Amino acid sequence: MTSEVVREAAMVAAEGVGHDRLKRLMKRGTDFLGCEWALLGGAMSWISERNLVSAISNAGGFGVIACGAMTPDLLDTEIAETRLRTDRPFGVNLITMHPALSDLIDVCARHEVSHVVLAGGLPPGGAIDRIKGSGARLICFAPALALAKKLVRSGVDALVIEGMEAGGHIGPVSTSVLAQEILPPLAADVPIFVAGGIGHGGLVAGYLEMGAVGVQLGTRFVCAHECIAHPAFKKAFIRASARDAITSVQIDPRLPVIPVRALRNREMESFASKQREVADLLDRGEVEMAEAQLQIEHYWAGALRRAVIEGDVETGSVMAGQSVGMVKEEQGVADIVRQLVGEAAQALERRSVHG
Ligand SMILES: Cc1cc2nc3c(=O)[nH]c(=O)nc-3n(C[C@H](O)[C@H](O)[C@H](O)COP(=O)(O)O)c2cc1C
Repeated sequence: MTSEVVREAAMVAAEGVGHDRLKRLMKRGTDFLGCEWALLGGAMSWISERNLVSAISNAGGFGVIACGAMTPDLLDTEIAETRLRTDRPFGVNLITMHPALSDLIDVCARHEVSHVVLAGGLPPGGAIDRIKGSGARLICFAPALALAKKLVRSGVDALVIEGMEAGGHIGPVSTSVLAQEILPPLAADVPIFVAGGIGHGGLVAGYLEMGAVGVQLGTRFVCAHECIAHPAFKKAFIRASARDAITSVQIDPRLPVIPVRALRNREMESFASKQREVADLLDRGEVEMAEAQLQIEHYWAGALRRAVIEGDVETGSVMAGQSVGMVKEEQGVADIVRQLVGEAAQALERRSVHG
């Protein structure tokens, strides 16, 4: 079958038994997010801005603005511009180590953002209460069962469990293992979304059947027509296979860096010299550890910008997950959502026929 025929078949399955089952399995997720399909467009720095975010929400998914290294003023504008493009709910992703986190929380509160996603480690004291106090629902990343339990105890409203197949900054454990460790004991207590390595709706169906209320995808949305990424960035995605999405290596044990998954290129090699440079500053006592880690994060933000915005896919960072091998062409966001939904419904229908 050609990919066109497979896609058509999946779209036809978007009606019927499988479709109804998919709706039921996603109900907690769609009620929580306030959208039609519990498909979160994972925030991607420089990429998840007004155009892609509104397109995902308008297509029935849930778009999330990536605040990344934005200043509070820039975030303010981005939220306002996104609102002009969609009247559906969307979220804002904030990085916990951002020096202006507190002001960014205020910006979200002023705009009455309905869902805030906190990424980049355990939320600092007070952040959870302030976000929840603004009336927003708080979603956090849980990289291990113990942390997931801790986050639930601290009042977090929902969790994303993201495995190391994902693009961007990653933890050490695969999505399939995290899902088996975290969904059975916690899925009844809190809505859990699974992320990392998802490129086909059949897998979405599998995680839903294990108790997830929805999923989060990043890589799969990069080659959307509505995504502002440079044509060279999208071309690199379309050409790449899963094995090209490699992880950065920590070269100095004194400087713990969070691994990043990105396409193999010259930049992945120059990250080693950046680490050496920052480790030397640490040695000479010229920076503290927190500042050293912030410098590494600024490095990534700059490298990602060079690739996404300027199209420099050799000396910039082409962050991508392993599901990049399933990105074969540019598509509209609505098409991507329809395809994922159709594939998931088809998988559920097959299981109900044979099961
Ligand atoms: C280019 C790129 C940039 C990303 N930037 C961020 C970010 O700023 N904040 C964040 O929480 N996650 C970030 N992510 C992770 C995504 O939100 C999402 O969880 C991930 O892409 C899901 O895995 P997948 O790529 O296998 O679909 C990024 C991912 C990519 C590919």
